[in-house]
Amino acid sequence: MTSFVETTHDGHVSTLTINRPDKLNALSQEVLSDLGSAIEALAAKDDIRAVVITGTGKAFVAGADIAAMKEMTEAEGREFGALGHRVFAAIENLHCPVIAAVNGFALGGGCELALACDFIFASSKARFGQPEVNLGIIPGFGGTQRLPRRVGSAAARELIYTGKMIGAEEALRLGLANAVFEPDALLGAAAATAADIAAKGPLAVAAAKRLIRDGVDHPLPDANRLEQIAFGEAFKTDDQSEGMGAFLEKRAPTFKGA
Ligand code: COA
Repeated sequence: MTSFVETTHDGHVSTLTINRPDKLNALSQEVLSDLGSAIEALAAKDDIRAVVITGTGKAFVAGADIAAMKEMTEAEGREFGALGHRVFAAIENLHCPVIAAVNGFALGGGCELALACDFIFASSKARFGQPEVNLGIIPGFGGTQRLPRRVGSAAARELIYTGKMIGAEEALRLGLANAVFEPDALLGAAAATAADIAAKGPLAVAAAKRLIRDGVDHPLPDANRLEQIAFGEAFKTDDQSEGMGAFLEKRAPTFKGA
């Protein structure tokens, strides 16, 4: 059976492409399950050090599948939301950074998917929004929580209450997107940044991701204590002696992730 999510590998970098262009890559239960399986497969691969997620056609993801949701009961809605939360948490918890390469519409669940990634590179044609209130529902895959954490409470409230779409430059201004590229340059830029990250000490990058992710849920003194523990732990790795040795010997390091 073909998957709605295609995985390709290039060295230590994997790219996941959501492939349901006739429905603008809308997240049905099947698409979400395929995405979950693809993430699970990457989680088992220590040699993958950075991931890019993108979409086929004119959308990144135009949201959760409205046709599939139309007749859902309360229990089914809750279950569908739980599936989205599980898959997006798996992205957030993946051992390595994930870059959302937003090639077009990132609406509703699409914007929430991008928010579960570590950061967003946007095409100049990208459009972001949480339009759920237009449909009589709320963001259900983490939007009410991750959007305010990313762009601040006031901007998130405006986007969620109005359901309006914003362009790439506005997303950049809000700090939702890290950078904007011409459409043809987007994937190359995301792949180059992913390769750049993949060349760093993978245990160090993984620890940094974990600390940044978990830190927001702790008071600052506790979060700083977690950093101190992880900083100490870095000194028992081969990567630390390789990285510092290479600097002192004026050569490029070769990290093994050990
Ligand atoms: N769920 C299910 N199907 C969707 C979808 C979604 N979220 N978004 C788009 N589609 C489908 C359309 O129904 C259409 O299917 P059809 O050709 O069988 O009629 C196809 O994708 C193409 O979409 P279309 O609306 O014709 O494209 P457009 O370029 O005119 O408009 C959008 C693009 C993104 C503005 C528009 O599709 C849209 O508003 N989508 C819904 C966005 C949304 O509310 N997302 C949050 C859901 S919780």
